Amino acid sequence: MTQEVHAWLRAAKRIAVLTGAGMSAESGVPTFRDAQTGLWAQFDPMQLATEEAFRANPSMVWGWYAFRREMIAQVDPNAGHLALAAFAQRHPGRLTLITQNVDGLHQRAGSAGVLALHGNILEDKWLDIPKPCCDADSAAAGNPPYCSGCGNMLRPAVVWFGEALPLQALDAAQAAARECDLMLVVGTSGVVYPAAGLARTAAGKVVIINPGPTELDDAADAVLRGKAAQLLPQLLED
Ligand code: OAD
Repeated sequence: MTQEVHAWLRAAKRIAVLTGAGMSAESGVPTFRDAQTGLWAQFDPMQLATEEAFRANPSMVWGWYAFRREMIAQVDPNAGHLALAAFAQRHPGRLTLITQNVDGLHQRAGSAGVLALHGNILEDKWLDIPKPCCDADSAAAGNPPYCSGCGNMLRPAVVWFGEALPLQALDAAQAAARECDLMLVVGTSGVVYPAAGLARTAAGKVVIINPGPTELDDAADAVLRGKAAQLLPQLLED
């Protein structure tokens, strides 16, 4: 099956790749829903990944994101991230990389134009619409930092449950799905929409790369039961 998918990749003029937390697992970043090791197996997302949670307990939520930022700063892109970036460099304009990951590892591997549907954990943004006094560079130190003029707080620039995805990235991702000849769906459980819906609207063949079952397996033309950092370098070599 790997050889067949390799042939599909060689033939495809437009390739879309949708990645999830499993993409970074071999870098040492925990996934969300894997039993025991997944973040949501240990923490309640409703207490950490919603605007309500942040407003109710800003220092606790800020601290949790600070812990994840520190962890991500200590890991490196893996062979899968690097293979995707190298393929895109060898084949300009052929591959659109869409990720649900907020860890920035695709970008650090050298991928340009990544459509980061769930934001970037390494960046901040204002919780409330910023006023003229809100200047992130001179925010007062705190957990979280805040505007000394109005008290507005900085928060991580990720998409929390109940929030809209960045419109431009989502539009571009939907267009890539509609126009692709082949979509690789790598390391995602396929339970979070609208990202998961991209696999269901893909115009071309859908290939899942995942060591375990996913909610999208029924939409796939091929399912490769393996790990991203092992399979992607093989599949993406010319
Ligand atoms: P999940 O934790 O739901 O799923 C991770 C998937 O990666 C599982 O299907 C695993 O089997 C698979 N996996 C584990 N190791 C792997 C490896 N080495 N190679 C390939 N696959 C592997 O993570 P996501 O699907 O990304 O949202 O979760 C989607 C969203 O839910 C996240 O973006 C996050 C979370 O709540 C927000 O933060 C908004």
